[in-house]
Amino acid sequence: MTDSLPPGPRTPVLLQTLANWSRPTSFIERARARYGRRFTVRMLGQPPMVMVSDPEEIKQVLTAPPDVLHPGEGAFILEPVVGPNSVILLDEDPHLRQRKLLLPAFHGERMQALYGLMEELTRKELESWPTGEEVELHPRFQRLTLEIILRAVFGLERGAQLAELRALLTELLTFSENPLSLLPPLPGVLARVGPPARMRKVGERVDELIYELIDERRAAPEEGADVLALLLSARDEDGNPMSPQELRDELVTALVAGHETTASQLAWTFVALARAPRVQARLRAEIDALAKPGAAGAGEDYLNATITEAMRLHPVIPNAEPRHVKQPFEAGGVTYPPGVTIFVSAYLVHHDPDVYPEPYAFRPERFLESGPGTYTWLPFGGGRRRCLGAAFAQQEMRIVVREMLTRYEVSALRGGGERTRRRSITFSPARGARVMLTARAAAASDAQAREARALAAAA
Ligand code: HEM
Repeated sequence: MTDSLPPGPRTPVLLQTLANWSRPTSFIERARARYGRRFTVRMLGQPPMVMVSDPEEIKQVLTAPPDVLHPGEGAFILEPVVGPNSVILLDEDPHLRQRKLLLPAFHGERMQALYGLMEELTRKELESWPTGEEVELHPRFQRLTLEIILRAVFGLERGAQLAELRALLTELLTFSENPLSLLPPLPGVLARVGPPARMRKVGERVDELIYELIDERRAAPEEGADVLALLLSARDEDGNPMSPQELRDELVTALVAGHETTASQLAWTFVALARAPRVQARLRAEIDALAKPGAAGAGEDYLNATITEAMRLHPVIPNAEPRHVKQPFEAGGVTYPPGVTIFVSAYLVHHDPDVYPEPYAFRPERFLESGPGTYTWLPFGGGRRRCLGAAFAQQEMRIVVREMLTRYEVSALRGGGERTRRRSITFSPARGARVMLTARAAAASDAQAREARALAAAA
């Protein structure tokens, strides 16, 4: 069945699996250099995986009928965490039904309601960040994005009640960085020992806490802007509410999908900004000129372009959900048989010099004149599976970047950039986005002192 698939690396499956785990970006870039924009890779225990990165073919894949390609099945690896009812895992009509129920909770107007919360939590978190020494930004962003998603999901006033959940989710996140987390459940005695067993316990306790929160809110419904309030009031076409299991699965999905992704994306954004003082200066000029900082999105063209460019340069989810072929499917002149999986590679199209000249340069200006293209800018995937939290994440990133640059100059440390490290399903900076923060007032007085010294020397 696979003879007709596009050619790809011929190294043994084990070596391809290891290379894809340890050097994910160079592995696919080498394959593209050799085989072109479309190639087949093979991983241990997986069906053949075809990577596509030509915009026209990407369009064909992302707009294929729901009964021909199954992204939900392709995301099976997430099931032990998110649960079988999660929108991420569904296909065809069940997917559509669940997505319709969720859409209102992530709609643009809802984001306005969450703006103040995101801003307040960001400001509070930034109060304690050290200046004048090396800091690792990624774990700090993880703490912040977890807090934001927890409060956005369960309610603004529940900070203290969420303490145990916060601690358990942090533990789960640490485990997800371990390759063991990607193994299927272990058999027999192995299932009762070591980190996987501990994680199962943690997962069970997380579930208990979430069901408690759901029961509490069902017993005493509250009006609120939080995701849980909206999901509790959601009704499908027949007037049915979501079951507790569906609610649990969607809440965990939002927590998992919305937390580490945003933290890694922010970390990469600051890795790039630290090396781009000119971009920082232009951003600060725009931030300072904003009359009303609370006016979401207005007058933030360069900030938007900067985030769009950071997501192009460093997409933290390097490809959309894998699409399982269910019926023969044709794209780019190749017919794919059922059983194959198609990966739309955001990373490769984002680094294609014919699509983005000088693809490795960090240049927000490229998005000032024309916005991102539907099939050439894919950090949130696309088609009917496009990320439900895109507006949420982009708003959060705008606020964090703005608040950071209002307070600090961010500079790179000696020793160059950061390599990519795979953390479960996200790509993040290998050294945790290490930078130096300088309080802006101090940076300004340093600059004045330098200017004064230069003037004195000239005199
Ligand atoms: C920078 C942050 C984020 C990135 C890079 C990201 C990326 C993605 C990607 C690539 C997909 C797969 C789309 C496809 O296969 O076409 C996805 C799906 C999804 N994301 Fe996000 N995401 C982010 C933040 C969030 C947030 C904050 C939430 C929720 C609060 C969220 C909820 C979801 C959900 C529910 C899906 C499944 C949609 C479906 O299958 O219909 N994501 N995301």
